[in-house]
Amino acid sequence: MASLTIRKLDDAIRDELRLRAARNGRSVEDEVRVILREAAHYPSPIPATPPAVLQAPSADRGPRAIHSLPRVTLIIGGGIAAYKALDLIRRLKERQIHVRCVLTRAAQQFVTPLSASALSNERAYTDLFDAASEFDAGHIRLGRDCDLIVVAPATADLMAKMAQGHADDLASAILLAANRPILLAPAMNPLMWNNAATRRNVAQLERDGIAMIGPNAGEMAEANEAGVGRMAEPTEIAAAAEKFLRPPQPRPLAGKRVLITAGPTHEPIDPVRYIANRSSGKQGFAIAAAAQAAGADVILVSGPVDLDDPAGVTVKHVESARDMLAQVEASLPVDIAIFAAAVADWRVDNAGEQKLKKTSAGMPPLQLVENPDILATISKLREKRPPLVIGFAAETEHLIDNAKAKFARKGCDWIVANDVSPATGVMGGDRNTVHLLTRDGGEIAVDSWPVMSKEQVATELVARIARTVEKTS
Ligand code: CTP
Repeated sequence: MASLTIRKLDDAIRDELRLRAARNGRSVEDEVRVILREAAHYPSPIPATPPAVLQAPSADRGPRAIHSLPRVTLIIGGGIAAYKALDLIRRLKERQIHVRCVLTRAAQQFVTPLSASALSNERAYTDLFDAASEFDAGHIRLGRDCDLIVVAPATADLMAKMAQGHADDLASAILLAANRPILLAPAMNPLMWNNAATRRNVAQLERDGIAMIGPNAGEMAEANEAGVGRMAEPTEIAAAAEKFLRPPQPRPLAGKRVLITAGPTHEPIDPVRYIANRSSGKQGFAIAAAAQAAGADVILVSGPVDLDDPAGVTVKHVESARDMLAQVEASLPVDIAIFAAAVADWRVDNAGEQKLKKTSAGMPPLQLVENPDILATISKLREKRPPLVIGFAAETEHLIDNAKAKFARKGCDWIVANDVSPATGVMGGDRNTVHLLTRDGGEIAVDSWPVMSKEQVATELVARIARTVEKTS
């Protein structure tokens, strides 16, 4: 086979590929081979879907490509509750979970592969000896190219097969060959559930590390029968699946108040003109989102930017450096203050109250005066000085030397230094290369991080803050 070199992948797709490859324990090259093989051999009959990583975002799938979403292989067993599995597909997709369905022969008596396929927007699998899937050891792939296997309904028969290690159809073969967590949603008649054989199988499966949700107590499909055996509701199963896929994150900054400045400031020249800079605010916003995700109570004071407010963060929108200082002071006291804004150093002292007009007298004499230095002001407070004050140093030359000088001048505790020369693309871009300057006794320690996305820089910085806060509290 000819070798393939793929150039000019955009960063997002390259990241997706790396993530997918890491998740599947393959090299990026092998992952690309699998994707190409999937595209060539598994055309989705209903409805047709473009190849995996090239899939365009759609409202249904949300803004992310499908392979950045967590993936569930849903095995639908043959019981009356199988009809609820169709609703489960919807519930999982609502939670931004990608679903691929496998139907046992018995399941197809209750629901069709066509419905499962249409709802999941993926091919539904039914046959162990399907030539197309077995080309790539399909039954093994279905139990591995996912993050979780959900069996709903898990019938008494399917559970017995699992407990015994049978592999005589596609569903049981996937389960036996799986190396991903398995979540069962049992559903059966109460007498079957309570039968000694099922009790033994359940105990065995629990010992094997298989998770279960339900069954619930309630009315059975059979007339006049009630008891424990009803499959858990699709919403319950979807919530249990999500706990596996997106386990609750640790919240190391819970109870901490964090203040962040971001973006540029606009300093008016007259009512229609202003002095500004190229800051996009992305780094500050990413830090706000990461601190919020770490459990902090976050206040973001932002200059004019073209970004959505991060969820769960209190955002105060300002224009000028003086407005920013006023909002920062009004937000104190805080535990941690991070000054990521690119504050304009000067403002126009004689800003026009009306639009300045061109006259024969030549250019208007703009008088610049220095703006308050917000970071230095807060670092030097006697009362209400936040215990941890972090500044940024945006430099275009002599990065570390200039950052060290700034560190001494500003009186903050840490400085995040970055090169913002136009060639780096940092201003307005999505990536950043930063150096964290901290005090180590009388010395300044410099920790240089590799090039990362601004979100990764934010996550790292917040993790570092969390470790420091934990040590000092
Ligand atoms: N900063 C601030 N208020 C100002 C100027 C800067 O709070 N009036 C903060 C920035 O948010 C950043 C740090 O000070 O955390 C350094 O900003 P930077 O623009 O790199 O440096 P300046 O202090 O403006 O110095 P210079 O322009 O000479 O590099």
